[in-house]
Amino acid sequence: MDKFLISGGAPLKGKIEVSGAKNSALPCLAATLLSAETVILHNVPYVKDLITQRRLLEDLGATVLTPELRTQKITAKNIETFEAPYELVKTMRASVLALGPLLARFGQAKVSLPGGCAIGTRPIDLHLKAFEQLGAVVSLESGDVVARAPKGKLIGAVVSFEKVTVTGTENVMMAAALAKGKTTIHNAACEPEIEDLAELLNKMGARIKGAGTPVIEIEGVENLGAAEHTIIPDRIETGTFIVAAAITNGELEIKNCVPKHLTAAIKKMRESGVEIEELNPSTLRVKCSGKGLTAKDVTTEPHPNFPTDMQAQYMALMTQAEGVSNITETIFENRFMHASELIRLGADIHFAGNTATVRGKTDLMGAPVQASDLRASASLVLAALAATGETTIDRVYHIDRGYENIVRKLSSVGANIERVTDNLNLTAAEEK
Ligand code: UD1
Repeated sequence: MDKFLISGGAPLKGKIEVSGAKNSALPCLAATLLSAETVILHNVPYVKDLITQRRLLEDLGATVLTPELRTQKITAKNIETFEAPYELVKTMRASVLALGPLLARFGQAKVSLPGGCAIGTRPIDLHLKAFEQLGAVVSLESGDVVARAPKGKLIGAVVSFEKVTVTGTENVMMAAALAKGKTTIHNAACEPEIEDLAELLNKMGARIKGAGTPVIEIEGVENLGAAEHTIIPDRIETGTFIVAAAITNGELEIKNCVPKHLTAAIKKMRESGVEIEELNPSTLRVKCSGKGLTAKDVTTEPHPNFPTDMQAQYMALMTQAEGVSNITETIFENRFMHASELIRLGADIHFAGNTATVRGKTDLMGAPVQASDLRASASLVLAALAATGETTIDRVYHIDRGYENIVRKLSSVGANIERVTDNLNLTAAEEK
């Protein structure tokens, strides 16, 4: 199992480039299942989750070509099966995004029910209820969700989500694109990734209005066709690099980003003393103000508010801020796993319900720690960069799911970080 070895203390300086958004590329790849014609996607990040999503498409019968490293040319003409197996779904929940497109185009889909994960139970009941509202018959058979559209076609309907769900909104948007008649989604997620997916679907011939707002209207069409689309930059990677500059007292120019996609996070970090300058619409210059950082409270909420996917990184930053910050997590019930590892590095963090209270500024000291999920790994990398001495981060396969070339990117701006492979080969024993 690979580990990261990080020697902290070096201020990060230079230019760093943001990759394509994982959470946008995942639904966009799934959307290619809606058409028999070729869809070309550019700026697809080369990360583990996208490799898994590609494998899922190929298993279903699609052809995926890669004419250039970050471009995928996908033709889902000859789909042979309508089933996403447990082996894939258990490694990546986003495989449930195949449900909507398969159901809409072929009138049937079978996707293994994702179990819980490190950050909570994460059900998909809202997706399934919405499919039922579009006329599907949904059942659970031996751990699989089986959905069928009677007479092979979904029927447009009004879908009101009880709770904002990102992939749920995406799944329904894709399903409704080929449904008969009009679908209106109320309480839709407003994340930039939803807008990006709608843009791709509209290029394919869908008729979607209002994506990026809480009400989305979709006029179903008969078929979808070919399209070419460039995935938006990853806003969470952008936010992670902002913290990397600030926490190391460095100065980074972050290129190929869309600052307006992370307005709330940028605002919060500015309030806490991070200097963030927009050099142009796709470049930020970030440094820590001479006065240092001040603790500021934060509550995670759906977009456009502070994203849960930045909570762990922000917590690492707050260990270096003067004062007390209360960090409240409202999206996932168990998303403080990184905190106990940050405490191992010397952070002062206490919990009450879904709030973590961080007292700073504390001197962090390198230690062996363990990553528990994707964003938790990022938080540990950031804290290790600010710590004195050496930190070993175990289980970095979590970070490989969503951060492209993180070691190379951070090294290029002065971080002392390397990936080591555990030669003892304890993997099998450890996993038991
Ligand atoms: C997506 C993102 C993930 C991010 C999350 C919240 C992708 C691939 N992943 O995950 O990085 O952290 O949004 O911004 O885009 N819920 C239900 N029933 C459902 C669906 C969701 O109760 O059917 C609950 C979840 O347990 C959670 C909340 O709703 O408490 C929001 O989850 P959701 O927005 O669906 O997260 P994902 O789409 O899985």
